[in-house]
Amino acid sequence: RETDTDVWLTVHAQSGETQILPGAKTKTWGYNQSLLGQTIVFRSGKTYHVTLKNSLPELTTFHWHGLDVPGPFIDGGCHAPIYPGEEKEITFTVNQPAATTWLHAHPCPLTGWDVWHGLATMVYVEDDHEDNLALPHNYGVDDLPIVLQDRRFHEDNQWDYDADYDPDGTAGPTALINGTVNPSFDVTTQKLRLRFLDGSNRREWRLHLSDDLVMTQIASDGGLLPEPVQMTKCMLTCAERAEVIIDFSDYKAGDQVTLYSDDTPILIFNIKDFVADDTTLPDKLAEISYPDVDPNALVHQVVLAGTDEEITINGLKFGMMRIDDRQEIGKTEYWDITNTNDCCGGMLHPYHMHGGSFQIVSRNGQAPYPNELGYKDTVAVNPGETVRIKMKFNFAGVFMYHCHIIEHEDGGMMAQMQVY
Ligand code: C2O
Ligand code: CU
Ligand code: CU
Repeated sequence: RETDTDVWLTVHAQSGETQILPGAKTKTWGYNQSLLGQTIVFRSGKTYHVTLKNSLPELTTFHWHGLDVPGPFIDGGCHAPIYPGEEKEITFTVNQPAATTWLHAHPCPLTGWDVWHGLATMVYVEDDHEDNLALPHNYGVDDLPIVLQDRRFHEDNQWDYDADYDPDGTAGPTALINGTVNPSFDVTTQKLRLRFLDGSNRREWRLHLSDDLVMTQIASDGGLLPEPVQMTKCMLTCAERAEVIIDFSDYKAGDQVTLYSDDTPILIFNIKDFVADDTTLPDKLAEISYPDVDPNALVHQVVLAGTDEEITINGLKFGMMRIDDRQEIGKTEYWDITNTNDCCGGMLHPYHMHGGSFQIVSRNGQAPYPNELGYKDTVAVNPGETVRIKMKFNFAGVFMYHCHIIEHEDGGMMAQMQVY
């Protein structure tokens, strides 16, 4: 049902079977289908009435990662369980710039288990500003979601989370791209927009194309970058998003271009005939205006330490009954996120905040990378590094912040704050 201002939809967490490899189907979970889900598209300014329905044998939650929504029950972190057989309606108005966000399960401490089974899907926000930039925007033709995950297939093509579990993040040797293995895509336009999401439990993706073909990054987690950034390598850590545009003008029908992560080919582009397109990308994409920080405000500290079962955040493990920090609604304050793992060989932690987007101010006092100048909700904090961010919350309530290596999050590298 849809009016000019309101839209009703149902998101149904369910189990099923998916033909991923030849032979036996894999037992999987998904939203409104057996694995992952169809992309959900929201329009900034509209109000959504979403029925959350759980047909799984256990409780789950529906977390809108990257959406700025009021309070913990709509945000869908640990505080918002939907029990087996239950359904519940939430209502929120989308009010943020166009962006690639996502929905995933977030029951604590079973987020890793749920996401590994398939409970993750893309959620796009659209707005007029982005429409007017004339970027590739034809879903499935020149604008593709790319959900990057990895799995190990056991006997009869099944996944076995418990067997593969690793407290430093569960991973598998087989790349799973939008729930498929070894996919290819027919390119029928000169320009192609890819919306990458690292939806893996722990894997980092170091993406590059054959011939070192250039990718022009136009957006990150929270929407468009101020300016396009050209690159030949694109690195994503858990939960991060990057939108890139590839220009195939040097290729002709019959050619192939391969997308790699490290040395592994993960997606083949088969070039077909396309009409020449000499439009150029705008050099300004978006105005990023993050409010100033009150110089008297304290700087919030987050210390991510340890590996394996020894991980902590500010010396502690997650406690559902404990509030770890507080910030006033509408105020912008600095947060310093420190990864104490020893440099070179230590793990990086992808740090994520619920409750809105932040701006990256510095990395060990140096300017952030050019493709980090837009709104972010997840940032890779390298071993030995302190990343300073500016954060503003628009809604009251208790919100989580944590490492997005999902087994670190489940293992206690997570805290919660009260926005008041
Ligand atoms: Cu993407 Cu707390 O989550
Ligand atoms: Cu989140
Ligand atoms: Cu971590």
